[in-house]
Amino acid sequence: MSEQEKPRVLSGIQPSGSMHLGNYLGAIRNWVDDQDKYNNYFMIADYHSLNTIRNGTEMRRNRKELVAMLLACGIDPERSVLFYQSELPEHTELAWIFTSLSPLGWLERMTQYKDKMSRLTETASISTGLLTYPALQAADILLYQADLVPVGADQRQHIEFTRDLAARFNNIFGETFVLPKAEIRKEVANVPSLTNPAKKMSKSNPDGNGRIDLLDQPNVIKKKFKRATTDSFRDVVFSDDPERAGLLNILSIYKAMTGKDEATIEAEFVGKGYGDLKVAVGEATVAHLEPIQAEYKRIMADKGYIKEVMDDGADRARRIARKTLRKVRRKIGME
Ligand code: TYM
Repeated sequence: MSEQEKPRVLSGIQPSGSMHLGNYLGAIRNWVDDQDKYNNYFMIADYHSLNTIRNGTEMRRNRKELVAMLLACGIDPERSVLFYQSELPEHTELAWIFTSLSPLGWLERMTQYKDKMSRLTETASISTGLLTYPALQAADILLYQADLVPVGADQRQHIEFTRDLAARFNNIFGETFVLPKAEIRKEVANVPSLTNPAKKMSKSNPDGNGRIDLLDQPNVIKKKFKRATTDSFRDVVFSDDPERAGLLNILSIYKAMTGKDEATIEAEFVGKGYGDLKVAVGEATVAHLEPIQAEYKRIMADKGYIKEVMDDGADRARRIARKTLRKVRRKIGME
């Protein structure tokens, strides 16, 4: 199948600090594994992060480190287009058009927005970008006429918003956009926090013990798993009892890290306890992350490489983005 005939994929990740195991298992590993299957566009969502990062030095560092980490995880610039969102003004231009077409009610219904609002008490300090954020995300996706958007479960609602908005635009101005679908892999679509399994593993949670950062040192990784919340049962089994969500989380990570099936894992721990499982998952994670960490170091030391990759990515992304935006401007009567 030629590149053009393959389904087109777009996805993004914010440069909001070190990447964690939730990002990796929920999204990035799927991007990497499916590179041959799809025609891939992957984006550093730096404008999305402006809602939270207001320090130029930090932003610059985070962007670069995130690119190095994506490459270290196996994103191959030959097979995938990797670019910074902010280098293509097409994103913000289409985002304005979409902001103008987004019913306020749709935006106010977004659970991520509602969650953040409920945690912030001082409304004067809440940026409008937190509300209009899905319009920018819709622009990211629709500019590339993406068929599929591989993400973790927390992004499902934003992709549905994108579909609804694309359909609305097509209805008002005539057929323009492909309606994208979220691609969510069931098993690790929602990696919970190690310390509070009712919450997702996240960068914004100040409790660092709940998350494994991909750059964590081996002893830190092992310690975090040792401290992970479990329950007062004893047997090591895959169970969907909500009381055992902590155990299921550790087992699911172990499964993802080793590639073993559930029966094999359960058999491995017959007669053993949670302590043994925690040691095993710590070691498996360290072993899995070791080559990624080594590759990350190598890429960070290679001064010109990241810029080269990103300049090339921006050029390739621009070709598609320009074409779509031109079509949109004609439809809305701006050309
Ligand atoms: P972000 O940066 O929060 O997360 C990047 C990817 O990681 C997934 N993820 C998780 N998956 C499973 N378990 C978790 N605990 C977990 N935490 C994060 C996310 O689902 C996501 O796939 N708005 C997006 C970035 C974005 C984007 C886009 C995504 C901007 N434009 C266009 C897709 C298409 C975000 O903040 O992801």
